Amino acid sequence: MDENPAVGQEMVTTPEEQPQPHPLVCNKYRRILLVGFAFSLFAAALGLGVYSHLQKTADPWTSQWKSAGPPCLSPACLRASQLFSVAMDPFSHPCDYYLFACGTGGSYASEEGHSIKRVFNEDNTELDKKREARTGGIVRMRRETDFQGESDGSQVKFPDRKSALLKTIKEILEAPEEGVSGNAAEQKAKKYFKTCMDAESPEKVGSKPFLTLIEQLGGWAVSKGMNRTDFNSTLALLMGQYSTFPFFSVYAGSDSSKEQAASSQHYIQIDEPYFQFPIDWNSKTQKSKASTRYLRPFYMSCGQYLALLGVPSNETTQHCGLYISLSTTLALGTSPLSYRLSQKLLYHRITIQELQTLAPAIDWLACLQATFQPLPINQSDLVLVHNLPYIMQMSQTISKWQIQHEMMGTRPLHTYMIFSLLHTLIPALDSRFFQTMRNFSIATGDTQEEIPRWLRCIQQTERGFDALLSHAIKERHAQNEAEELIHDVYLSLKKKLTGLSWRDDRSSAFILNKTKSLNPRLSTKTNNLSHAELNHLYAEVVLSEEDFFSNYLQMLALEQKSRSRLLSHGTQTEGLSITPSISGNDIIIPVGMFVSPFFHSSYPRALNYGTLGSLMAKDLLHLLLPDIHMQANNPGSESMCIWTHYLSVTKDPGRVDTFSLSPFEQQEVWVQYTALQVALDAYKMSFTRHPEDSSLSGLSYIHLFLSSFTKVSCDADSYHEFMPFEPSFLVTVLCSNSSFCPKPLTCVNKSQSFTQEMCQSRTLH
Ligand SMILES: *[C@@H]1O[C@H](CO)[C@@H](O)[C@H](O)[C@H]1NC(C)=O
Ligand SMILES: *[C@@H]1O[C@H](CO)[C@@H](O)[C@H](O)[C@H]1NC(C)=O
Ligand SMILES: *[C@@H]1O[C@H](CO)[C@@H](O)[C@H](O)[C@H]1NC(C)=O
Ligand SMILES: *[C@@H]1O[C@H](CO)[C@@H](O)[C@H](O)[C@H]1NC(C)=O
Ligand SMILES: *[C@@H]1O[C@H](CO)[C@@H](O)[C@H](O)[C@H]1NC(C)=O
Ligand SMILES: *[C@@H]1O[C@H](CO)[C@@H](O)[C@H](O)[C@H]1NC(C)=O
Ligand SMILES: *[C@@H]1O[C@H](CO)[C@@H](O)[C@H](O)[C@H]1NC(C)=O
Ligand SMILES: *[C@@H]1O[C@H](CO)[C@@H](O)[C@H](O)[C@H]1NC(C)=O
Ligand SMILES: *[C@@H]1O[C@H](CO)[C@@H](O)[C@H](O)[C@H]1NC(C)=O
Repeated sequence: MDENPAVGQEMVTTPEEQPQPHPLVCNKYRRILLVGFAFSLFAAALGLGVYSHLQKTADPWTSQWKSAGPPCLSPACLRASQLFSVAMDPFSHPCDYYLFACGTGGSYASEEGHSIKRVFNEDNTELDKKREARTGGIVRMRRETDFQGESDGSQVKFPDRKSALLKTIKEILEAPEEGVSGNAAEQKAKKYFKTCMDAESPEKVGSKPFLTLIEQLGGWAVSKGMNRTDFNSTLALLMGQYSTFPFFSVYAGSDSSKEQAASSQHYIQIDEPYFQFPIDWNSKTQKSKASTRYLRPFYMSCGQYLALLGVPSNETTQHCGLYISLSTTLALGTSPLSYRLSQKLLYHRITIQELQTLAPAIDWLACLQATFQPLPINQSDLVLVHNLPYIMQMSQTISKWQIQHEMMGTRPLHTYMIFSLLHTLIPALDSRFFQTMRNFSIATGDTQEEIPRWLRCIQQTERGFDALLSHAIKERHAQNEAEELIHDVYLSLKKKLTGLSWRDDRSSAFILNKTKSLNPRLSTKTNNLSHAELNHLYAEVVLSEEDFFSNYLQMLALEQKSRSRLLSHGTQTEGLSITPSISGNDIIIPVGMFVSPFFHSSYPRALNYGTLGSLMAKDLLHLLLPDIHMQANNPGSESMCIWTHYLSVTKDPGRVDTFSLSPFEQQEVWVQYTALQVALDAYKMSFTRHPEDSSLSGLSYIHLFLSSFTKVSCDADSYHEFMPFEPSFLVTVLCSNSSFCPKPLTCVNKSQSFTQEMCQSRTLH
């Protein structure tokens, strides 16, 4: 079962090293020698038998973990070795674990770490993500000063995981074409990215492509010569072909209100639209209202857009006035997520037919069929509505405006839809449109720096080519080593959970059952596609070298396809995702986690397991935590033990130790310590399977593992802010039993009265 190449080799080579009897010795001694030889052969065989028996029972980890493997010299390893400086080595500063701050070599002491107050917002992260995704792909990202691996001191930091993924995608899209043209889909994605990066092409054509498109849609009232257009069919067209949702937004997603049964079933979800201006919420009257101080800049930007589209300035007053009036009227019905949550307005289940009677101004069936074509959608299908009062009010407003204004020929509803379309298309128009939008968002107090062009282009490419990008990342970065890592981490996590002390048998059976039935898998069915299937998926896309506007429209059409695939397959092609999620019986581990510097197939496994292994264990624990935390005693008791340990070794005269950990801190301390143990156990499992590994900076296996854990927890752990001390202290706890670590992490000038075994896990052996 355990194929052990090292043992096999020893068995073959040892007999050859036995001293051979010389052929020309005296006959007299020959018999004695022969007997002696036979005996020694027997002894050797016996010795070998015992030896190989010992080799099989002694685990290779215990005999080798303090040694260093041969250095890894791959380009990825050479880059990664910059991440490991002496300053971050928990063993070079055994006494500094409480001063030792993550980041720039101790520039901030974290002794006050516990004073950080925070509110943990556990709900609605999915809704927030959806909301982000709806803002026309212009998603604001945390700016990373260290993204390029910039080092302002001696430290090179890990980038955050999202930035690392984006950088990887950029490399894929910028990589030169390989000779073989078998991968047509990938060439299309590269071409899209290239034309997007080419800032020249939209400038050359100005606003013409958009004006032509308006013509094709039947014109608009702002410029004369408008054909009669039907409200419902225009709306359906915008939703279906142009990813534009003027009055309400639509997406596919699972029903997160059902916590336990995280089903893979996906539903159509209907939500408030994205408004271009800030909305104030009055918590006393519980009403929304467009912020009045921004209405003037908003009006100005409307006029600027019309001027860019060649509309005479004496026409703008009327149309912009109506546009703003309609926008602010619609905004009255919106409410913030927290309010909707408290009023149970989220995930309201309703059939399309019922929705039609409650909000009759919209032809719901036609709009939803267009959005999810070619799927068969019918009146009795269920949809999830996230603010039904808004939807009903929106319907009333539309009916009212239809009657009031259509007579006068101003068609404000239609104009409103065209403005929404304009916002969708701004990234493909000349930069004056973008500047106008940007100036307005600065006027509303947006202080964030402009997203660099390459990032916007990656986000766009991802909207259309999500399945392709997942595939490309998987193919290049997440092969067998990734599957093994997932397997080992999940197995050791299950082992760890089995060893917990549970409140009662029923809850433990439930959770152990659940973890047993869940199946972690890299990516999903929908992105396990062959090259041929991928090429088929993108077969209809014909990209132009010159005309970025037409490429952009095709990208929107691809996004529509991806939206309907998501609804029908119930599985997301999670291009830019970096955290695991549960879908039915699967835990989806997104391929986006497996990018360097977090993971590389050429890295020493000590690095992969210490870095991504521990992050993955943390993510999985957080995913399963709601169950564990309620039912097991360990999070409470182990975190208190660690905390007491921390207080005892960092005790300073004059410090008051009366505070205790908040529930979130308790939970996080336990999660992080458990993740360290799980990742180490997974590495041991892997090491037992293949008892060799390479090394970085001459560090021993265990040393590299622990340094990787410390480094990544410091730099790139999204839960770091919930920790009351630096994660390097967890290594100290682990090493308080010196037999786990390269050297004892005890500090001579501190009292060591603490009984260390208390925090040791029983599953570590
Ligand atoms: C209006 O419709 C007519 C006939 O279908 C068409 O020829 C004309 O181009 C349309 N005008 C606009 C502005 O779309
Ligand atoms: C704007 O000016 C043009 C001529 O310059 C005129 O034909 C048109 O009626 C004016 N529009 C409005 C709304 O005043
Ligand atoms: C859209 O279609 C629905 C259903 O057919 C209809 O009730 C509604 O009046 C239409 N809306 C407008 C603004 O024409
Ligand atoms: C509507 O679709 C559902 C499945 O999505 C199906 O079960 C049902 O029979 C369909 N109803 C009609 C009237 O076609
Ligand atoms: C945006 O604002 C800047 C600075 O205020 C100004 O120079 C520029 O002309 C504005 N651009 C547009 C398109 O309004
Ligand atoms: C879950 O546990 C119950 C006993 O509590 C057992 O009968 C059942 O077979 C288990 N289900 C799975 C899927 O393992
Ligand atoms: C992906 O496809 C290959 C062959 O087509 C199959 O062997 C493998 O099990 C699939 N993996 C997943 C996760 O579906
Ligand atoms: C260290 O851990 C091992 C294995 O769990 C245990 O047998 C040993 O007693 C521990 N030693 C100390 C000093 O805690
Ligand atoms: C511990 O003692 C060493 C010298 O013995 C000293 O350099 C170090 O600063 C001391 N550490 C603390 C935390 O007091």
